[in-house]
Amino acid sequence: MRTDFSPDELGSREFYRLLTAVIVPRPIAWVSTVAADGTDNLAPHSFFTVASVHPPIVQFTSVGEKDSLRNIRATGEFVVNFAPASLLQEVNATGTNFPPEVSEFDAAGLARERSTTVRPPRVAASPAALECRLHSTLELGDCTLVFGEVRHAVVSSDVLEGSHPRFGDLDPLSRLGLDEWGSAGEVRELKRIRTADFPRGFTPSAQAGEGPNAP
Ligand SMILES: Cc1cc2nc3c(=O)[nH]c(=O)nc-3n(C[C@H](O)[C@H](O)[C@H](O)COP(=O)(O)O)c2cc1C
Repeated sequence: MRTDFSPDELGSREFYRLLTAVIVPRPIAWVSTVAADGTDNLAPHSFFTVASVHPPIVQFTSVGEKDSLRNIRATGEFVVNFAPASLLQEVNATGTNFPPEVSEFDAAGLARERSTTVRPPRVAASPAALECRLHSTLELGDCTLVFGEVRHAVVSSDVLEGSHPRFGDLDPLSRLGLDEWGSAGEVRELKRIRTADFPRGFTPSAQAGEGPNAP
């Protein structure tokens, strides 16, 4: 049995709750910006993804007009800081709706670190950061999609294996539905199957090494 939901019947607030409970887990862009008056700002955004590979562009969504979006429009720059599980309380604290003259770095007791290519500071305790120049914005419904070209990336050597950031050491936080947060689960490695190697009569159990053809 399944339950059906329609946006028209449920209403936009409840449908938003449903969407954010089924589009999970969402990574968190911890976005730092600087206001025109020099106040630096920090806020989590879980509507966040890679938008383009070449050039490298990331995208987050501002639901309505917030300080982060206003600052990016004014300065053309932002940093996406990685949000690790160890900083759950701090990430949550920077989601508080402070007035523009309050810096969330100070409110949450977070040390700043100078960025390499842009003015907004990085979160010193975050293991990775992407320094972005505003590429474009797109107004969509009651939201603004913000596209940023990544001009510089920095990753703590503590989490690197060669040039590969290890998921387990990054230990990402994720956003789920309601007030739920997720943390990293099990990591499984599975190579993508090339078309030429795709077996006739695919069975997942055989692929997992449990089927009749397994050694
Ligand atoms: C985990 C988490 C994820 C969030 N994701 C978003 C988001 O994707 N878009 C958004 O507009 N607000 C999001 N928010 C709410 C903003 O962080 C919040 O409104 C914040 O006060 C905005 O700060 P600003 O006005 O300094 O930009 C999120 C909050 C939390 C705690």
